[in-house]
Amino acid sequence: MSNSKTAAIVLAAGLGTRMKSNLPKVLHPIAGRAMILQLLDSLSAINPEKTILVVGPDMEPVSDAVSAAGFDVEIVVQQERLGTGHAVQQAESALSGFDGDILVLYGDSPLITSDTMEKMLNARSGGDDPAVVVLGFRPFDPGEYGRLVLNASGGLEAIVEAKDASEDELANDLCNSGFMAIESKVLFELTAKLSNDNAKGEFYLTDIVGHAGEAGRGCTFVECDEEETIGINSRAELAVAETILQDRLREAAMENGATLTDPSSVYFSYDTQIGQDVTIGPNVFFGPGVEICNGVEIRAFCHIEGAFVEDNAIIGPFARLRPGADIGKDVHIGNFVEIKNATMAAGAKANHLSYIGDSKVGERANIGAGTITCNYDGYVKSMTEIGAGAFIGSNTALVAPVKVGAGAITGAGSVITENVDADALALTRSEQKTVDGYAAKLRAKKGKK
Ligand code: UD1
Ligand code: MG
Repeated sequence: MSNSKTAAIVLAAGLGTRMKSNLPKVLHPIAGRAMILQLLDSLSAINPEKTILVVGPDMEPVSDAVSAAGFDVEIVVQQERLGTGHAVQQAESALSGFDGDILVLYGDSPLITSDTMEKMLNARSGGDDPAVVVLGFRPFDPGEYGRLVLNASGGLEAIVEAKDASEDELANDLCNSGFMAIESKVLFELTAKLSNDNAKGEFYLTDIVGHAGEAGRGCTFVECDEEETIGINSRAELAVAETILQDRLREAAMENGATLTDPSSVYFSYDTQIGQDVTIGPNVFFGPGVEICNGVEIRAFCHIEGAFVEDNAIIGPFARLRPGADIGKDVHIGNFVEIKNATMAAGAKANHLSYIGDSKVGERANIGAGTITCNYDGYVKSMTEIGAGAFIGSNTALVAPVKVGAGAITGAGSVITENVDADALALTRSEQKTVDGYAAKLRAKKGKK
């Protein structure tokens, strides 16, 4: 680990025009949270002393989202978008007095890992004390990326933007990711030398490499996979980033001891926690806030968010667990069952076609097919309590607030509006009438067999 202190400047003043969206680009989500939060989370693993986020005018939603997520970030506004070098200059006063290394990252390139940040910082404090470490990569298609120009001894001499590059320079596939680690003492001396005399008429941060060389300071680079450097400018690129992140999350779940029958059809959130010996069938989606304990089986086509599932429960196929679903040990939740803000204690079962909302279901209680907790009267939500070992007959409507005692039974098709005592039977359907021979007579009358 690098010994010097670290600060970070995250550039996010870009307009994101190509997203065609009212939402600022860096708030578009990947794996269930805004891309900027994904980046700040990876950054927090290296413990920066200070993080400066450079945003454009009218980007309050970005600062709000970042502080709501609990990140300690100082916001700086770049009034005019005059280039990456100009954006970094905006952080100068926020970093006055800071002594250490400064990482420059892009808010719309959220897939860089903390390991790679660490590698850059280590290179900054190692070797011949380079002033700047640039993160390079060799993309499949170098296209419009800036190119890293090396000197005879393999040091980094300059970065040339594609628009300003010669044919020879464009033939070089070693590209600039845009991320840098820079010694704080020299950063703002170097940015002060930038000019906008180039093809785009912008103040390029990349030019600090050439200026460092002129000042007698060496620069270097480290390389990473193209996947870590992907920048998101369009919805199509957002989808590519999502795929890369999902693959990482799938691999992590499998490494931790979960079986994914068809990994590519399972979607995780950034915070999904999956225990050991969990089996996840095809086409399962996890929204934010899910914890699945050991030995749980999640069968195909489940949609799960904000739920806690204890050991050895069986969920699905086709089950929906919504926020506040608290599923105990050995519970079975079967097809077309929706659970919301409800506790199912150990061994309880709801195997078919039910809605259990705002409820407490006791141990080993059995919820029959078609049971509905009527938790909402159009004005307020109310609770349903079902005691341990109770048996709720098929197609029971439980009109909340209502309690069914331990061991009680409700008859199939009942509408339960009053509390049921423990071990009692509650039935609300009308008695059955049987007319002997009626069906046969009817058929005869209609002339049918
Ligand atoms: C930049 C690099 C290029 C590199 C590429 C990698 C420069 C001059 N070029 O080019 O070498 O290969 O990234 O993706 O640095 N931003 C601001 N304010 C500004 C301008 C940009 O905050 O005034 C932010 C953007 O929001 C974005 C980042 O800086 O997060 C990069 O800007 P962008 O315009 O995408 O730079 P590129 O032209 O792609
Ligand atoms: Mg770009």
